[in-house]
Amino acid sequence: MPTAAANIGVVGLAVMGSNLARNLASREGNTVAVLNRSRAKTDELVSLHPEAGFVPTFSYEEFAASLQKPRTAIIMVKAGLGTDAVIDELVRVFEPGDIIVDGGNAYFPDTIRREQAVRETGINFVGAGISGGEEGALLGPSIMPGGSDESWVTLGPILESIAAVAEGEPCVTHVGHGGAGHFVKMVHNGIEYADMQLIAEAYDLIRRGTGKSPAEIADIFAEWNTGELESYLIEITAEVLRQIDAETGQPLVDVIVDQAGAKGTGAWTVQTALALGVPVSGIAEATFARSLSSHPEQRAVAAHLPGPEGDFVVDDADAFIEDVRLALYASKIVAYSQGFDEIRAGAVEYGWTIDLGAVSKIWRAGCIIRAQFLNRIAEAYAGEPDLPALLTAPYFAEALSRGQASWRRVVIAAAQAGIPAPAFSSSLSYYDGIRADRLPAALVQGQRDFFGAHTYRRIDKDGTFHTLWSGDRTEIPAVDTH
Ligand code: 6PG
Repeated sequence: MPTAAANIGVVGLAVMGSNLARNLASREGNTVAVLNRSRAKTDELVSLHPEAGFVPTFSYEEFAASLQKPRTAIIMVKAGLGTDAVIDELVRVFEPGDIIVDGGNAYFPDTIRREQAVRETGINFVGAGISGGEEGALLGPSIMPGGSDESWVTLGPILESIAAVAEGEPCVTHVGHGGAGHFVKMVHNGIEYADMQLIAEAYDLIRRGTGKSPAEIADIFAEWNTGELESYLIEITAEVLRQIDAETGQPLVDVIVDQAGAKGTGAWTVQTALALGVPVSGIAEATFARSLSSHPEQRAVAAHLPGPEGDFVVDDADAFIEDVRLALYASKIVAYSQGFDEIRAGAVEYGWTIDLGAVSKIWRAGCIIRAQFLNRIAEAYAGEPDLPALLTAPYFAEALSRGQASWRRVVIAAAQAGIPAPAFSSSLSYYDGIRADRLPAALVQGQRDFFGAHTYRRIDKDGTFHTLWSGDRTEIPAVDTH
């Protein structure tokens, strides 16, 4: 048995796990024990990276014996049943006070369940969202841990040592208890879906409206990346659009099949939002846009359906591009505002205390949605921690007001040209809905009361009312059902 030389262990050494282990090992004061289901991966990692000083282990018993107490292990396996199997093994060899961290993209109800079950044994369980892909895991991800205060005492400094840094601050915070970390990571991914879809719509509109090539549009995105839209996703979009396929000489984007994949976190964000009653319409449209793209059989039979006559060519390409930029920024504000609404509602529902300002700060670097814009969100919550809707904060309200005319022109142009822009248009509808004095929801209430006696409230007096909808409707009084 090895001596307890390591202060942290990693189980699961596929790309994310081995990169995270290397990141941990590269930070002063960390000694990292590693364990993988197949011995070959462990041997390979240890021999490829002698500088890391890994402590290789080949059984759960050896792994536990190699760790200082409280033992701390990060599980980096594909989310699902494999995670439960690894947790069971760790619970078998760990002791009360030890800490098991799940660093995968787990569905937060699973994390809530696992945390409760593991807590019974006296062992701490932490569901930690980790964002930033392979490179982030290696160089500095954004980390969203949940779990107990006790576990944070040991885990906090270790995670702070490996996280990305934004303006001198590590991109990790103790998000909240139980499943809070994975909940916040889930919403991060939902926002990621919306952001990506909005960028894709912007590209499509510019390409079809101005005839510019992908490489020319790459230059536009690179330019946008120097202003208020500056973000990792805008930056990589320019790179993707510039890429030429070596085999055909075509822009790679034209060679890639136009069916977007998804591993489920966007759908979870939408399902959860539906259950919580939070309208995350931008995220939902982005998720559905991926689904629509991935039904080639339906798209093939629908391809003959008519669209508008004539070609879509804008008169003033530069003005149109600037409109699209402003529409993108406004829609992005809506998507983030909706995502933060969902986190707030989730915190209330599950009894977590989540500091929305702290969440926006740890998304400033390391993660996929990192952006200059997150500083503005942090400022908004610093100014008003209980801000009821992010888009009403002065900075965002000004940006929306500045962008709204462009936003409307872009949505109109898309509709007239027959170009799908579901995320742009749903964001604009959300904006118009949330700011409306009066909504036709009153009519919906009337309909509900008509067919199901579901009752309604009145604008002029308290109480709940039901109308007897028959006969001479003008004469029938509303009945207070109280
Ligand atoms: C991250 C990413 C990461 C992953 C997504 C992709 O934060 O590092 O979000 O978690 O790339 O799961 O999800 P889809 O395959 O569903 O696009």
